[in-house]
Amino acid sequence: MSNIDALKKEIVETVKAANDINSLEEVRVSALGKKGKVTGLMAGLGQMTPDQRKEMGQALNRLKDEITAEIEARANTLKSAALNERLQKEKVDVTLSPRPQAKGTIHPISQTIEEMTVIFADMGFSVAEGPEIEDDFHNFTALNFPPGHPARQMHDTFYFPDVAGKTGLDAKRLLRTHTSTVQVHVMQTQKPPIRVIIPGRTYRSDYDMTHTPMFHQMEGLLIDKTAHMGHLKGCLIEFCRRFFEVDDLKARFRPSFFPFTEPSAEMDIGCSRAGGELKIGEGNDWLEILGCGMVHPNVLKSCGIDPNEYQGFAFGMGIERVAMLKYGIPDLRTFFESDLRWLKHYGFGPMEQPNPALS
Ligand code: PHE
Repeated sequence: MSNIDALKKEIVETVKAANDINSLEEVRVSALGKKGKVTGLMAGLGQMTPDQRKEMGQALNRLKDEITAEIEARANTLKSAALNERLQKEKVDVTLSPRPQAKGTIHPISQTIEEMTVIFADMGFSVAEGPEIEDDFHNFTALNFPPGHPARQMHDTFYFPDVAGKTGLDAKRLLRTHTSTVQVHVMQTQKPPIRVIIPGRTYRSDYDMTHTPMFHQMEGLLIDKTAHMGHLKGCLIEFCRRFFEVDDLKARFRPSFFPFTEPSAEMDIGCSRAGGELKIGEGNDWLEILGCGMVHPNVLKSCGIDPNEYQGFAFGMGIERVAMLKYGIPDLRTFFESDLRWLKHYGFGPMEQPNPALS
């Protein structure tokens, strides 16, 4: 019996000394495995007298149970120690900011397009797009610029080399000088009623404080059977009031000329220039903001729409220009210099909502 006690003591000690699951398993095999110490003793039972065998058998079974229980207990201790260690190592510090300082910002142009789109979407306009490389027809002819018309020259157009095998205006390929080209695409493919805005890049060969060779325009086109100048004015005044967040913003429409609208107008909004600082919605000064007019019947005809049945209005404005006015950005050229300090200063965070009227 004392043998068994001594063996038990020895095995229990090695169990307790096992520092991980693998060495514990080795201990188990050396005690209870096929060639283990306890198993070896069990094998000796056969040579004993029935009485000895009974007594020894019971003692060995007890020993086996006790050792098994010890191993199990040790295994649990080791497992929970391992788990604790893992939890400690993989701990997440919930006090850390879930939104680390964003590295990039939303460019003022993207932000402004987004804000303009929200306002026009509320008035039922959807967004249309078209190609930046155009032919003469979409940029000029369909928009009622007759060949040789002086307004063509005023657009400082970037032309590509003439298309091989074609002559005259047919051979011309160009970078669109305005988003009005997309009016043509839309009217050629959609049936009225039409209500679209067209944000996009436009190109003119010009470069100074207020001109860059690439800039953005927001075009608008509405065609139905009854739209008139009053609708045009109401729509644009409402747009400017929401965009500039001035409820009683003054506006006026001055007669102007565009080949593709008749009558044509330019819209001014009220501002103050007191002390050299421009403030929108104050004072008695005026600031030109966009061009607009009723779509010329010739344009409708060129696009396959019957001017005796349909009419409508169009407008176009510079997106950089309204962004500069709204966000106080002084130099147009800086928009496209990709200066990280400028982008950090004038850019917008992804969660920012600079115009609460739009949220
Ligand atoms: N396309 C004109 C421009 O670039 C703007 C405009 C658009 C005017 C639609 C009237 C109607 O200056």
